Amino acid sequence: MPTPSKCRLLPRPVQLLLILAGAAAMAGAEELAEQLPITRPGCPDKCGNLSIPFPFGLMPGCFREGFQVICDHSVDPPRAFLADTDNNRMTVTDSDASAASDAAAYLGFNTSYFPVELVDMSADMSQARAYGPITSGCSTNSTQYRFQTQAMTLGVTQGPFAVSQTLNVVVGVGWRVDVAMDGSSTLACSTGTGRELAARNGSCAGQGCCEAALPPEPVYGSVQPGLVVPNENALWRSSPCSYAMVVEKSRYVFSTPDLYGDTLLMESFPVVLDFAIVGNASCPAKGQRPPPDYACASSNSYCVNATVGLSGYALSYVCKCSEYYEGNPYIANGCRDIDECKFPDLYYCSSKGICKNRPGGYDCPCKPGMRGDGKLGQCVEKFPIVAKAIVGIIGGISIIVVISFLVLLRKERRKTRELYEKNGGPTLERAKKY
Ligand SMILES: *[C@@H]1O[C@H](CO)[C@@H](O)[C@H](O)[C@H]1NC(C)=O
Ligand SMILES: *[C@@H]1O[C@H](CO)[C@@H](O)[C@H](O)[C@H]1NC(C)=O
Ligand SMILES: *[C@@H]1O[C@H](CO)[C@@H](O)[C@H](O)[C@H]1NC(C)=O
Ligand SMILES: *[C@@H]1O[C@H](CO)[C@@H](O)[C@H](O)[C@H]1NC(C)=O
Ligand SMILES: *[C@@H]1O[C@H](CO)[C@@H](O)[C@H](O)[C@H]1NC(C)=O
Ligand SMILES: *[C@@H]1O[C@H](CO)[C@@H](O)[C@H](O)[C@H]1NC(C)=O
Repeated sequence: MPTPSKCRLLPRPVQLLLILAGAAAMAGAEELAEQLPITRPGCPDKCGNLSIPFPFGLMPGCFREGFQVICDHSVDPPRAFLADTDNNRMTVTDSDASAASDAAAYLGFNTSYFPVELVDMSADMSQARAYGPITSGCSTNSTQYRFQTQAMTLGVTQGPFAVSQTLNVVVGVGWRVDVAMDGSSTLACSTGTGRELAARNGSCAGQGCCEAALPPEPVYGSVQPGLVVPNENALWRSSPCSYAMVVEKSRYVFSTPDLYGDTLLMESFPVVLDFAIVGNASCPAKGQRPPPDYACASSNSYCVNATVGLSGYALSYVCKCSEYYEGNPYIANGCRDIDECKFPDLYYCSSKGICKNRPGGYDCPCKPGMRGDGKLGQCVEKFPIVAKAIVGIIGGISIIVVISFLVLLRKERRKTRELYEKNGGPTLERAKKY
């Protein structure tokens, strides 16, 4: 009988640190942001190491409705949670069952609720990461299982958060388990028939690990990975546990030891959440005056109509920084110019050009003596070699012609002189003097 703690999946501080270290992608852009504000004036912008950009915020007046964050300072490092637990929560259900599925968990054995824990937030992308739901089934003997089912519920009817359907996947790990989403019986994927030798590190193609897209629409805003396990687990001593989890694409890398014991149980994985400005809100039409609570507060930002959560709740929008700007479109002057010249991989400028940043873009004029467009890699010499050669040849010919002409002229002069003298020219000249 495994100890209950083996099947406990709640994030722990140590795991949090590990994942924060790995989750630096979203924070990449924030390095630049260090000096510039990401919150409203006078508002704290950090929970431990975690940046809290507006519309998220910790204190009254510092967040937009629905975006309050609670920072738990009682642990080190501090942890951040979504405060609105009526709309956003993790539901964790423990159950013992001999049935071949975790459906028994639905009957509501020992259900508890937890706030959604944040991993990071990006205002510019209108996204956040949170620890996702992991459902586990661990054999206690060959026929008996202990299940823990986790469901992530976000904004049941009106957001502002929703699990991104495109950026996350559902992953199954274990022998002979099927994964189904959201309490449905529709198979998402299967982990195969239990031939141990077929499992390969890094491969989630159906041998000990499987992966599938999320269904397009969560049921009542709740995302719940589900397991269907075999009636009898012959491998229960060596491989007691199997898992189904919703996780950001590529974030979970299958490793064969995850099939044995409880190593995977030690980790939590992030899911990507989309957020939007909700409340019967859409982008103002062209020429229309924006409403007083219009969220796109920064200059050099723009508004995009969006859909977050249930399809019936269609009116919502997100704010973006204009092209060549980055930062926080949700606060005044939050979008700042990107120095494109610092990111030559993203903003091309030919090695024959000179990169020059300017607000809202960059220029790449060609180096002196060249013409064309360095952004298109089309810098060419103003006088290409052929032209130079032609000029050279013409010049050469001209010089030869001139010299020949001078030589000829001298010859001609001498001839004239000789003729002159022969014909008594000098005598005539003398006569003239008289
Ligand atoms: C995160 O915060 C802890 C203390 O809370 C600190 O020791 C650590 O250096 C910080 N890490 C980073 C990457 O800022
Ligand atoms: C449910 O809670 C009770 C009392 O705390 C405990 O005795 C029981 O083992 C729990 N059942 C499960 C399936 O966790
Ligand atoms: C498995 O455990 C359950 C409850 O602990 C027990 O009722 C059942 O008889 C056990 N089955 C086997 C095959 O040992
Ligand atoms: C997978 O990698 C782990 C270490 O991360 C190693 O212990 C295990 O043997 C590897 N499995 C296979 C099938 O190579
Ligand atoms: C949503 O807003 C539009 C116009 O701003 C208004 O006509 C409509 O009644 C509103 N709907 C609800 C449900 O508030
Ligand atoms: C957003 O949607 C509203 C209402 O449907 C529409 O009036 C407006 O033009 C749209 N704005 C943009 C930028 O698409």
